Amino acid sequence: MTHSTRYKNKIVVVTGAAQGIGRGVALAIAAEGGQVVLVDRSELVSEVAIEIEKIGLPGLMLLADLETYEGADSVVTQVLAKFGRIDVLINNVGGTIWAKPYQEYKPQEIEAEIRRSLFPTLWCCHAVLAEMISQQQGVIVNVSSIATRSIHRVPYGAAKGGINAMTACLAFEHAQHGIRINAVATGGTEAPARKIPRNANPMTEQEKIWYQDIIDQTVSSTLMKRYGNITEQVNAILFLGSEESSYITGTVLPVGGGDQG
Ligand SMILES: NC(=O)c1ccc[n+]([C@@H]2O[C@H](COP(=O)([O-])OP(=O)(O)OC[C@H]3O[C@@H](n4cnc5c(N)ncnc54)[C@H](O)[C@@H]3O)[C@@H](O)[C@H]2O)c1
Repeated sequence: MTHSTRYKNKIVVVTGAAQGIGRGVALAIAAEGGQVVLVDRSELVSEVAIEIEKIGLPGLMLLADLETYEGADSVVTQVLAKFGRIDVLINNVGGTIWAKPYQEYKPQEIEAEIRRSLFPTLWCCHAVLAEMISQQQGVIVNVSSIATRSIHRVPYGAAKGGINAMTACLAFEHAQHGIRINAVATGGTEAPARKIPRNANPMTEQEKIWYQDIIDQTVSSTLMKRYGNITEQVNAILFLGSEESSYITGTVLPVGGGDQG
């Protein structure tokens, strides 16, 4: 448990907070004194809200589908109604739904991957910017991936490449407004079994082989020859979301054991 207070009195929105990296980020920010707003489309996010109450300020929990602009906009509206400002936005929703060579994807699957891993960040950045501009301050951290250079998840890689591009471009546009925008290019990360599956259908035998190919390629592309863990991702995200990184913007920080993505 950290004793830092980097997030004391900060209003911090964390998307995809019901499990995995988003949950880890939310718990760590609460432990540093931040007022966390947990956003997810799964009601399981209520379990994280209960955990947060035990370690910090009561977490506000909002249910929203961030694949829609209305979902993102409703989150910003509700946070402003309750707290009057947003200091930090952590765009964490995403994750590949399928694992297979590109030619095996159906067109509607390609669209679904882009909706899952690019649109929530596009929508949430758009929804929050007017407020951050009027505040003349704000910090955004986008959770990207080293999968921008990888196998068997081309649509997801394309979505995360889009996140890297919007991180750089938004930083250009909004440095003048006191807003910093960075991304973490997350590497393969060990996590407990997902309560909320990315894909509700069980994998076929062929899909299991393709998924193992991803794991093997991910490990071999690192210098350290291992997966990371949630804490290693959380540490980088919290650094970029805090004043410790006050002179860093427009950057994509690879957190992949030496895999630059
Ligand atoms: N886990 C890894 O190995 C890894 C590697 C590289 C990058 N990443 C990235 O890190 C981020 C988190 O990964 P994870 O493995 O912890 O995720 P996860 O799939 O375990 O959890 C994602 C969360 O987002 C929520 N969510 C999904 N779609 C949503 C929507 N439309 N609206 C609201 N909530 C929605 C889910 O309910 C879930 O709680 C993702 O952006 C992912 O691409 C993860």
